[in-house]
Amino acid sequence: MTTRVYPDGFLWGAATAAYQVEGAWNEDGKGESIWDRFCHLPYRVRDGDTGDVACDHYHRWAEDVALMRSLGLKTYRLSLSWPRILPEGRGRVNEPGLGFYDRLVDRLLEAGIQPNVTLNHWDLPQAIQDVGGWPNRDTVGWFTEYAQVAFERLGDRVPMWATHNEPMVIAYLGYHAGIFAPGISDLSQAVQTVHHLLLSHGRAVQAYRGGGYPGKIGIVLNISPYQPASDDEADRAACERIDQLYTRIFSEPLFNGRYPEPLMTWLGPHAPQIADGDLEVIQQAIDFLGVNYYNKSAVAFDSEAGVIKLRAWNISAPGLGTTDMGWGIYPDGLREVLVDVETRYHVPEIYVTENGCAAVDVPDGTGSVDDRDRIEFLRGHFRAAHQAIEEGVPLQGYYVWSLMDNFEWTRGYAKRFGIVRVDYETQERTPKASALWYRDLIARNALED
Ligand code: FCB
Repeated sequence: MTTRVYPDGFLWGAATAAYQVEGAWNEDGKGESIWDRFCHLPYRVRDGDTGDVACDHYHRWAEDVALMRSLGLKTYRLSLSWPRILPEGRGRVNEPGLGFYDRLVDRLLEAGIQPNVTLNHWDLPQAIQDVGGWPNRDTVGWFTEYAQVAFERLGDRVPMWATHNEPMVIAYLGYHAGIFAPGISDLSQAVQTVHHLLLSHGRAVQAYRGGGYPGKIGIVLNISPYQPASDDEADRAACERIDQLYTRIFSEPLFNGRYPEPLMTWLGPHAPQIADGDLEVIQQAIDFLGVNYYNKSAVAFDSEAGVIKLRAWNISAPGLGTTDMGWGIYPDGLREVLVDVETRYHVPEIYVTENGCAAVDVPDGTGSVDDRDRIEFLRGHFRAAHQAIEEGVPLQGYYVWSLMDNFEWTRGYAKRFGIVRVDYETQERTPKASALWYRDLIARNALED
């Protein structure tokens, strides 16, 4: 057995997102989000599930902080609901909404848990979508206004901020594939969304710096490694293209102030409209990069596949199967991604802001779950993270997705990612075996492997 010790002060945590856990979708003056609207439409989400109640975290937050404390979490990654704070997306501030986060942050700090706050984990105010949403350049200004409201209220106490979570998913699943809110299928809108998300990130970072707040600010990208399905030139080019479309389209402007040129040429009329000075705004120095990692994909040229002419599917490492999402398990892909990001961009600090798996959890009579598959999943990925640290990656922390079972977007409540089980009938929380295993690992700051 090997004992892998992590650096002193390594921040072990767990993550959730507002829409997935809070519920209280229309309480205390909260405005409607695009996810509220989407889930209330027929057949968009499995079984007609919605986030109306979710884990009822809006009412159970104190109990949830106590639970985190009992697991010894050093940090908790949460997101703020923009329409809870600004019901119309701009202008009028909803004090009860802001007050909720204020109390939550205070309680976390009292419990010795560092809040890591994401401003945008997908739940755009519907009022903003009604006037064009992310493809509308005005949304950049409205997001910045919202960010400023959040910084002014919480910036004295929140040590870590992220502007956006997985802008790739917002742009392509929301505005191109149309399978996520707001359910639009238009490549040009998707690519313009990419640009406006990046620009709004840059403006929010500028606002944060301008306010002289004491914490750190960054952004969270989901990054997958891609490999060509064959040695064929067309497959290798398709692999380059998907990497540029889904990853470099964000990382190149953020760190190098330019979009990947071959992709822009490929996109042709779908390439984003960029105003003078935008790329300088986007390329703000950030304090950390958050990396969400779930799987690795193979990519092949496909002449039938729309504008981008490729198809991708995720793959498993030899001997490893798939999770309950049907995603291939590939722990070493995490090391690959971390080393690649560090080599290319020399980011000052990196965090794994999400990693975890959905599993078929079978509770025993007490509601507890012996989720050995999840433990093995986490073990493999924690090992990969440790190897990345040994290879020189400045990895400072790791957030398991998720603290508790929650609303898994279009899969509704059918997919369970939590290390804590939620009984949706009673809202009872029960730590699974993985939560107790994680608690012990955190206490030792080491993985017995
Ligand atoms: C990520 C999302 C997160 C969660 C996991 C499983 O893409 O950021 O909210 O749904 O996937």
